[in-house]
Amino acid sequence: MQRYGLIGRKLGHSFSRKYFTELFRKAKLADHCYDLFELADIGEFPALLRDTPGLRGLNVTVPYKETVIPYLDHLDPLAAAVGAVNTIVVDQGRTTGYNTDVAGFRALVEGAVGSLTDPGSAIKARALVLGSGGASRAVAYVLRDLGIRFRVVSRSRERGDLTWDQVDPTVLRVCRLVINTTPLGMFPRVDEAPPLPYAALTAGHTLIDLVYNPEETLFLKHGVGHGARTIGGLGMLKAQADESWRIWRER
Ligand SMILES: NC(=O)c1ccc[n+]([C@@H]2O[C@H](COP(=O)([O-])OP(=O)(O)OC[C@H]3O[C@@H](n4cnc5c(N)ncnc54)[C@H](OP(=O)(O)O)[C@@H]3O)[C@@H](O)[C@H]2O)c1
Repeated sequence: MQRYGLIGRKLGHSFSRKYFTELFRKAKLADHCYDLFELADIGEFPALLRDTPGLRGLNVTVPYKETVIPYLDHLDPLAAAVGAVNTIVVDQGRTTGYNTDVAGFRALVEGAVGSLTDPGSAIKARALVLGSGGASRAVAYVLRDLGIRFRVVSRSRERGDLTWDQVDPTVLRVCRLVINTTPLGMFPRVDEAPPLPYAALTAGHTLIDLVYNPEETLFLKHGVGHGARTIGGLGMLKAQADESWRIWRER
């Protein structure tokens, strides 16, 4: 049996297991399976590797994308540049970390970028990235690559450029691309949303939420209410899963 799976702290509503189980079924890979491995602490990772025969690959989710890195034997250069891992190849007990959130977010954002540039102006809009965790690092990598200037909003002064209380209507007017990389609004806490001065949003704004469950979060509903363009996280989720599968197949 070739085993794949997902590590994270709470995995009750995993998209990945359904996605890969269906992918293996369609590809007639009856000897492949995808399981959920809940780890209360990342210190349990070495025991998981040791005690799971046939393990070929893992995805990594909240909150271990950064803390798993010291436990890996190798790091792909892109994952090293991002500073976060969401895909692991296991080959004869040796582990290599990759980041497919970059490919996933790129697929999501590239279509939105054109609409953010004023016609006749070479100046691209600025972005506001909410949260500073593993997914935020992948988002920051792609924005840098696309030449989009951005600021990170964090609860901590050390991890971001702005704290939440500093995000006033002027900041929101300047930053016409707003990307939520926090878990705020994720099922079951669907009545939560990042605390922003939403009244400053206009039809010229684009809101991207990495949260994919529900498909339309309260954050995105606020955007719709002010005429903004909104993009949910499901497209990124599928694109990063497909990229993981490509890496596992090729290695
Ligand atoms: N659609 C996709 O393909 C995709 C891919 C990756 C992640 N995601 C989603 O993105 C979210 C974040 O994932 P992640 O792996 O980056 O998680 P993470 O490493 O735990 O980071 C989340 C960040 O959000 C901020 N945050 C957490 N709780 C908060 C709260 N109550 N209020 C304000 N800020 C809070 C924190 O930043 P500060 O410490 O700076 O405040 C934290 O570092 C999850 O919902 C995940 O499901 C989706």
